Amino acid sequence: MDQESITIIDNRTDAQYHIPLFKGCVRAADLRQIKVQTEDFGMMTYDPAFMNTASCQSSITYIDGEKGILRYRGYPIEELAQNCTFLEVAYLILNGELPNSAELQEWIDRVKHHTMIHETTKKFLEGFRYDAHPMGMVISTVAALSTVYPECRDVTDRETRRKEITRLIAKMPTICAYAYRHHFGLPYIYPDNDLSFTENFMNMMWKMVEPKYVANKTLARALDILFILHADHEQNCSTNTMRAVGSSLADPYVSVAAAAAALSGPLHGGANEEVLRMLDEIGTKDNIPAFIKHVKDGKGKLMGFGHRVYKNYDPRARIIKWTADQVFKVTGRNAKLEIAIELERIALEDEYFVKRKLYPNVDFYSGIIYQAMGFRPDLFTVLFSIPRVVGWLAQWEEMLEDHEQKIARPRQIYTGHDERHFVPMDKRGTGQPAQAVAQA
Ligand code: ACO
Repeated sequence: MDQESITIIDNRTDAQYHIPLFKGCVRAADLRQIKVQTEDFGMMTYDPAFMNTASCQSSITYIDGEKGILRYRGYPIEELAQNCTFLEVAYLILNGELPNSAELQEWIDRVKHHTMIHETTKKFLEGFRYDAHPMGMVISTVAALSTVYPECRDVTDRETRRKEITRLIAKMPTICAYAYRHHFGLPYIYPDNDLSFTENFMNMMWKMVEPKYVANKTLARALDILFILHADHEQNCSTNTMRAVGSSLADPYVSVAAAAAALSGPLHGGANEEVLRMLDEIGTKDNIPAFIKHVKDGKGKLMGFGHRVYKNYDPRARIIKWTADQVFKVTGRNAKLEIAIELERIALEDEYFVKRKLYPNVDFYSGIIYQAMGFRPDLFTVLFSIPRVVGWLAQWEEMLEDHEQKIARPRQIYTGHDERHFVPMDKRGTGQPAQAVAQA
């Protein structure tokens, strides 16, 4: 018998099934042969929230959550953060290899060529209320780009795809900066192609009346490192959304908008904004024990802690802590950092967090750095989306080129009524189950 297989005995029928293993996994469709009656549908797996289901094969990002390892295309995140620029890492994620200097220069030029947005898109942004959440503005504006580049719908053409990928990566900082300036009624600043990717973003964010905005080099490098750390993270909630929406062959703009919507939730990319809110709520170090008790009593979460995959220190959080030190040398220490460090110390010694293997994740310190740099908390998730668009698009293209992939369509276990018949209005009592009325 093939060693790379398992044998299942169905106790209902005593039938035995030899199921081959694929890369150490059971292919869920192989379980369909397990039936009691021949007309049965066959066995399915039940896995709410994909706790134990691989939905794809991917060669982009590797995570070992137990050991706290993160690699892009095989390279440890620490080495990339130390030695590369964000665009260099973006090239690696999209193409599989680090660029040589000519390839990098050509890629940088290509991105710069696409940083401007159409004036009608600018007008679209102007239509939002002054207090619109920037993430809502970004999600809608990215989706609207689909109407500006109708050729993007040809997702099966590699050349078209590559052009849209470049456009999206190039335009994200512009859209994000415009969303910020809209709130304050500040004029939008056009991209400046003399600047690096990060410096250009800072210029579009903060240039006022000075003839030439000069970004602080340490802060620009810190932002570049933060972008590297956020560029991809295998099959997280937003990437899974990107793949699922893209699997219907929807265009990349609306797919990225959907992924960004998934990112905006407080359990995902929205967590960094929530961390700041939580630190404000705690207020002083003295209040930390009471806050920890509140969390342990199940009355709230310690935001920025815990991860579906990491059951060890998130390697990105370690690099972010180092980056924070560099940033605070420029900006001065932030009172929130002291609270966060103490909160982390107490939590890492507390049995509740130790037992559940809850460690700081990427969002625990990133918000504090962003705020020290001058970003408002409601922009934090927007800042996350700028680099993550690289990962979404690389994963989207990998999905489109994977012959095993089809439109994403999970099964369900139906728990509703058996067939029943229509009741005319005058025969319906008040005893109608609320659920049935809601479904009608
Ligand atoms: N604070 C307190 N308790 C927590 C936390 C937390 N941050 N995270 C998990 N737990 C507890 C759960 O209540 C659960 O306890 P129980 O076993 O007594 O019921 C246990 O730890 C396991 O947690 P799950 O919710 O089952 O873990 P899951 O993998 O589903 O959730 C998640 C992961 C969503 C990240 C969760 O840890 C969380 O909500 N963290 C706070 C939000 C956050 O920081 N999100 C950012 C994640 S990183 C990113 O998306 C970029």
